[in-house]
Amino acid sequence: MKIVSLFSGCGGLDLGLIQAGHEIIWANDIFADAVETYRNNIASHVDDKDIREIPSSDIPDCDVIVGGFPCQGFSMANMKRDVEDIRNKLYRQMVRVIKDKKPKFFIGENVKGMASLGKGEVLKKIIKDFEKAGYDVRWHVVNAADYGVPQSRMRLIIFGVRKDIAIDEVFFPPETTHTDPEKAKRLKKKPWLTIGRALSHFPEPEDGSDIPNHEHSKYKLRFNGHLGHRRIDPNKPAPTVTGRGDEKGGVVVLHHPDNHRRMSAREVAATQSFPDSFVFEGTKTSAYRQIANAVPPLLGRALGIMLVENEKNISDTESMKEAV
Ligand SMILES: C[S@@+](CC[C@H](N)C(=O)[O-])C[C@H]1O[C@@H](n2cnc3c(N)ncnc32)[C@H](O)[C@@H]1O
Repeated sequence: MKIVSLFSGCGGLDLGLIQAGHEIIWANDIFADAVETYRNNIASHVDDKDIREIPSSDIPDCDVIVGGFPCQGFSMANMKRDVEDIRNKLYRQMVRVIKDKKPKFFIGENVKGMASLGKGEVLKKIIKDFEKAGYDVRWHVVNAADYGVPQSRMRLIIFGVRKDIAIDEVFFPPETTHTDPEKAKRLKKKPWLTIGRALSHFPEPEDGSDIPNHEHSKYKLRFNGHLGHRRIDPNKPAPTVTGRGDEKGGVVVLHHPDNHRRMSAREVAATQSFPDSFVFEGTKTSAYRQIANAVPPLLGRALGIMLVENEKNISDTESMKEAV
């Protein structure tokens, strides 16, 4: 299907959708380094203006609109969790574009904490706004580890189907492929990919200088239990990669599973399931931030497969009508 991608960042979600066979026909993000990364790794169709300044008439017609609208204001890692945070309101831009373009489907992505913000009132309001745009809306919290990502990353997925589209059974959330190793055999799924295994092919940064974004961090480790200062268990998926910190501040970087240094940006990218060939532009800090902001491509791929399944169900209904 033809997809328009809002808040596309460096393109984690878009890469996964492409892997599932879709075509991204237009993308937008305001973060210059992320746009440059997108241009070099995905396609040149990415626009770098503020979405609030782009009229819907400049955006092409499409089958699907996707957008991981900015989540900082919603994040549980953000102690303020201010309901009135201006960044929270950017989802309305997505509502506006959906209302004007009327795609068959839309997918919104956000942090799990958004579901409990304002005792659930914020999510209720967001869902209502999408419904008013003409969509049946569902939401679900998924764990990226259940889709083969070597990281426990809980994300809220919002899925909208245009109200006039008849689908017998909506395929949502995407079917999981991986699970807790203790349940894997019984559930006939693969065990979660561990972070030790996912990073095992990387040489130490100083021995692998030709690997892009794989620079050595001189940062001295601390183990005080706080975010970014915790021991990593190599035999489990990594904890959530987070981009906490504002544009000027530092980012939180996970320890390597050997717990002898921080991960390089390349290793954090692998923790997010980016292929090793995907190169991030800008400074090291910028790369860490782009990666942390992203939807893991493997979760994006699962969402892409989910779209295919739902599209198939529409065609079935249409062909049944024709047969009658
Ligand atoms: C959570 S990230 C999305 C990441 C992306 N879905 C991915 O998979 O890589 C949110 C993005 O919204 C962008 N953004 C914030 N305000 C914006 C605005 N006014 N116009 C366009 N993009 C904006 C940020 O630069 C950031 O890259």
